[in-house]
Amino acid sequence: MKIRLLLLSLAVAFVPVSGLRAQDAKPAAPAVPAEKPETELEQTMGKMGKAWKQVRRAARDGKLTAATADLVATIRTNAEAATKLTPALEAEKPAADQAKFQADYVAQMKKLIEKLSTLEATLKAGDTATATKLVAEVGDLMKSGHKDFRKPEEHK
Ligand code: HEM
Repeated sequence: MKIRLLLLSLAVAFVPVSGLRAQDAKPAAPAVPAEKPETELEQTMGKMGKAWKQVRRAARDGKLTAATADLVATIRTNAEAATKLTPALEAEKPAADQAKFQADYVAQMKKLIEKLSTLEATLKAGDTATATKLVAEVGDLMKSGHKDFRKPEEHK
């Protein structure tokens, strides 16, 4: 019994030490990330993307509820902010085409915002079947928006 206790206290005493050693052995993280700095639009889209993943998952798992409307509101608010920004691809267009490119981008974003507002109301009303269809339609607007306005090498 005494030996067991002794072994136990020895084990407890060594845990933190070995923990520390494991940490010391970790390779240092690179000081500068390899990625290029994000544009403001990428940051805004990134926030939309996080909330969208959860909405899509809820739709796939048949778990759309009134609470999902809050996530949709997050996507909508960021889409509204995105409307005031300019896709990086625009700078690669001839100067004469840029105003139309921006107007088309804003128009597509407005379609998205309208669809998201309808989805929010539908979720709050508890109409899950319609909400599931609307989630798919939001996905289609995202895909065509990315096809037309995002730099090709950024498509993931
Ligand atoms: C629910 C809808 C949408 C979601 C969840 C979404 C999500 C995203 C994500 C995750 C990125 C990558 C961000 C990064 O590189 O860090 C992105 C980029 C981008 N998205 Fe969206 N997006 C949506 C709709 C749209 C629509 C409708 C348009 C166009 C009207 C659009 C235009 C763009 C553009 C242009 C970029 C590249 C950013 C830049 O040029 O600086 N997105 N989006």
